[in-house]
Amino acid sequence: MTTPRVLKTPDEVRWFERDLRRRGQRLALVPTMGFLHEGHLSLMREGRVRCDVVAATIFVNPAQFGPNEDLSRYPRDQEGDLTKCGQAGASVVYCPEPSTVYPPGYQTYVSVEQVSQGLCGGRRPGHFRGVATVVTKLLSLFRPDVALFGEKDYQQLQVIKALAKDLELGVEIVGLPTVREADGLAMSSRNVYLSAEDRARALSLSKGLFAMKAAAEGGEANVARLVALGLAPLTQAKVKVDYLEVRDADTLAPLTTVTSGRPARVLVAAFLGATRLIDNLALTVP
Ligand code: PAJ
Repeated sequence: MTTPRVLKTPDEVRWFERDLRRRGQRLALVPTMGFLHEGHLSLMREGRVRCDVVAATIFVNPAQFGPNEDLSRYPRDQEGDLTKCGQAGASVVYCPEPSTVYPPGYQTYVSVEQVSQGLCGGRRPGHFRGVATVVTKLLSLFRPDVALFGEKDYQQLQVIKALAKDLELGVEIVGLPTVREADGLAMSSRNVYLSAEDRARALSLSKGLFAMKAAAEGGEANVARLVALGLAPLTQAKVKVDYLEVRDADTLAPLTTVTSGRPARVLVAAFLGATRLIDNLALTVP
């Protein structure tokens, strides 16, 4: 394992990218906000399978945090992250300063319309505009062949697929399955905020989702009844639910019935104290 090269400015990225092209190598990009866990690392490993070179980015993007969110206390561990990136096969890590990405006078933003509506887009106004803007900037700068994202942030993945297609960025957007702890909790940098008690209560999110998945596989297609099943563990654990909804897996249009042969997705967000967690799962009716 070699320690990855750290790039700090857009010019350094452009030199790196030009050099790579000259050598005819394929590039995979994995954007992150750092404090890396197995979920992030699975994206880098798959990038290495698909391409010659993997670049990761670590940037806690102020544009995607609301005024009352956790930007200032978002967990960070640069040293540890760089070691993990190296072990997972990333040879370059771009860690720009906020003032580099958004210098004084910055005024250009990317808004993806339909799939940004509702769910996290409804609860966190401006969030996906911030995500879409930074991801567009990173894709335009690196011009990767492939960019990898987690299904953990399912609505975000749909937003990114839409912008890559609509803006004709010529990059393949790959979504990979959510990596979970042994007991089912979806891995998240934000899990570090949880007290032992809230960590136990947080299990009710995945429990609810898996109960819904099993019921759908058993033939339950009625969304209201599925949602009631999914909410039960959350209510029992006294977790404050932000939303729990069943949507079309591709368009994210709301559903009242799950149609056999057409993939649906259940998405949940809930508060454990001040910590907001999200999770989602595929639902299929036979
Ligand atoms: P972050 O939360 O750090 O996540 C970076 C990438 O890792 C995203 O594609 C996310 O979906 C994926 N990921 C997170 N947890 C995962 C898990 N348990 N299993 C699989 N993949 C997981 O998402 C962001 O950062 C930002 O919004 C970003 C896209 C970098 C733009 O700022």
